[in-house]
Amino acid sequence: MTDQNPTAPRPASSSSTTAGPGVVPEFAPPPDGDRRRYAVAGTGHRAGMYIDAITGEHADVATLVALLDTNPGRMAHYEQLVSQALGRPARLAQYAPDGLEKMIAEQSVDVVIVTAPDHAHAELVARALAAGADVVVEKPLTVDRAGCRRITGAVAETGRDVVMTFNYRYAPRNSSLRQVIASGEIGEVTSVHFEWALDTVHGADYFRRWHREKRNSGGLLVHKSSHHFDLVNWWLGDVPARVYARGGLRFYGDHNAADRGLGPRPARGTGVVGDPFTLDLNDDPRLRSLYLDAEVHDGYLRDQDVFGPGITIEDNLALLVDYQRGATLTYSLNAHSPWEGYRATVNGTAGRAELEVVERGAIELDEHGNAVLDPSATPSSVGDALRPEGERLLVQKHWERATAYPIPDGIGGHGGGDAILLKDVFRRHLRLGEDALGRPAGYLDGLRAVAVGIAGNQSMVTGLPVTVADLDLGADLSLEPAR
Ligand SMILES: NC(=O)c1ccc[n+]([C@@H]2O[C@H](COP(=O)([O-])OP(=O)(O)OC[C@H]3O[C@@H](n4cnc5c(N)ncnc54)[C@H](O)[C@@H]3O)[C@@H](O)[C@H]2O)c1
Repeated sequence: MTDQNPTAPRPASSSSTTAGPGVVPEFAPPPDGDRRRYAVAGTGHRAGMYIDAITGEHADVATLVALLDTNPGRMAHYEQLVSQALGRPARLAQYAPDGLEKMIAEQSVDVVIVTAPDHAHAELVARALAAGADVVVEKPLTVDRAGCRRITGAVAETGRDVVMTFNYRYAPRNSSLRQVIASGEIGEVTSVHFEWALDTVHGADYFRRWHREKRNSGGLLVHKSSHHFDLVNWWLGDVPARVYARGGLRFYGDHNAADRGLGPRPARGTGVVGDPFTLDLNDDPRLRSLYLDAEVHDGYLRDQDVFGPGITIEDNLALLVDYQRGATLTYSLNAHSPWEGYRATVNGTAGRAELEVVERGAIELDEHGNAVLDPSATPSSVGDALRPEGERLLVQKHWERATAYPIPDGIGGHGGGDAILLKDVFRRHLRLGEDALGRPAGYLDGLRAVAVGIAGNQSMVTGLPVTVADLDLGADLSLEPAR
């Protein structure tokens, strides 16, 4: 089993030091037989990483007892994979979403891992808490104000645990920037400039499936940018106070395609050759099994045309965010870039830090006009001198030359974040000491991150800045609220 989304760039490897205990946390050995009972709600792509972890590296502390999904085909996919891994029938109990409470009771579930689409998070989280389970939830916490209030209400009523899995915090390069800021080397932060570029394969993927409708994902400002807003909140140790946003659908979608003279186009990518904007589910056995073979159950199309009708999310976004302690964030997201990566610049009273990451330098086409995701497959792409894949963190104090701040090697997906995050998710009760980087996140961090996107969505509609406190998300998001 692999977690790597075939459309996402492979993580760039860093060239510097090996990860030390500050980056990879240390844990006590688990007492014999002390395993928490897990259920996974939403058994699509992302669920694979957790199921893999429970049945593999963390099997000594966790047991997978049940799956929950609207689609029996995808649950069967994972049951088969787990059976193969175990070498015997896994016999995982399987439930539809209306059976969540029954599942928790019948299978004595301790923790529900929520990897369903974003719009379903609030209901699953709130119901799981009320039924007596703790929750691990993927980003974004939820998509709108009602979802925030539902979750905060359930946490207040039950007092149960909600772990937010912000894996980007765990990527060593992002942790290193946090260390630079926390050390005081660049002084008090006055402003941040953060630019994120998604390429025409990975970025395009959000326009093929449920994410393409704002009611499902909150748009990229909630779905994707909640990662980025959480990073800024965490880097600065601050909380967003006011948001002004502009954006639009300017590249994907049927109107833009018509304006540029594209078309007519096939409604889906499977079976299409020579169109780099399509995804053929037959090209990847995992995609075929999870989505193409499972279409008979619910008609969920994973490979819709990115230039088709019905897209209600933006592909170009720009934000101005005021932080409570006075810093300003300028942020932009573009989802049709020819390369993928990001640049974060942090200005302080004593200097400046600059993190630059190239996750994929270019997407090239093969002789049939299909996108080539593995650059080593085309000789011309080897050794891209102008945009080499990699990462660089420069720190420059006033009146001094720039220095390169060491970034420890990453391990695994999302710039090395996923593997370390999973240790914290499954072994946090065994952690030896607090995390010096403050990486473990809870629902309040989730709220602070989606608050920026939800405020941004409102600002795009009204054309006015939105004060985060006025959103009334059900909890006090200010710096030191009562937890
Ligand atoms: N942290 C990361 O880097 C990262 C990466 C990928 C996905 N994610 C998150 O994981 C979640 C799932 O994304 P995905 O790419 O796996 O999507 P997906 O479409 O591949 O899978 C979602 C699954 O949920 C099921 N589902 C739909 N409605 C449901 C409901 N009401 N209850 C239970 N299951 C339901 C679908 O049938 C499907 O099997 C999203 O919230 C996404 O943001 C996070």
